Amino acid sequence: MHKDSQGFERTFALGELEATNALGARIAASLQVGDTIALAGELGAGKTTLARAILRALGVTENVPSPTFTLVQTYETPRLAVRHYDLYRIENPTDIDELGLDEALDEGAALIEWPERAGSRVPSDALHVVLSLTNDDRRAHIAGPSRWANAFGEVSHVR
Ligand SMILES: Nc1ncnc2c1ncn2[C@@H]1O[C@H](COP(=O)(O)OP(=O)(O)O)[C@@H](O)[C@H]1O
Ligand SMILES: [Mg+2]
Repeated sequence: MHKDSQGFERTFALGELEATNALGARIAASLQVGDTIALAGELGAGKTTLARAILRALGVTENVPSPTFTLVQTYETPRLAVRHYDLYRIENPTDIDELGLDEALDEGAALIEWPERAGSRVPSDALHVVLSLTNDDRRAHIAGPSRWANAFGEVSHVR
């Protein structure tokens, strides 16, 4: 779905926690107001860990809890505001209209766990990160607008 319409696609091996932190730092360095980062993958695949890495790299020092129950957590960072969503518990994509995604993107960026729950309400220019954990093999498959290619220039990746 995203592959044909979007210009950037790559897979990264995330064997060590440091690799996930480095990926988060790369995403953070290129994150702009209006950006959505969709974080997909099964329970325990590392969505919250990557969101935390992005927020830490943006300078967030406070605790970054999983928004499993609150559905959304808002952070002010020196460069931009970030809202971190976990949509696992929403029942209908329209529920996201009450969670302020439009406002979030006017003012900053959005990190969205379980983006498939939001259906077509996920912006079409989102960076899609699909995290997987098979046996001990952790990976991130990333696809999105071609401007993101610049963000990942030097990071080692799986072909
Ligand atoms: N390389 C890695 N990247 C991300 N998480 C890792 C890694 N290695 C181990 N983990 C652990 O896997 C778990 C991932 O959980 P979490 O990020 O909450 O997943 P999700 O939000 O997808 O349910 C955490 O306990 C984390 O410490
Ligand atoms: Mg999570």
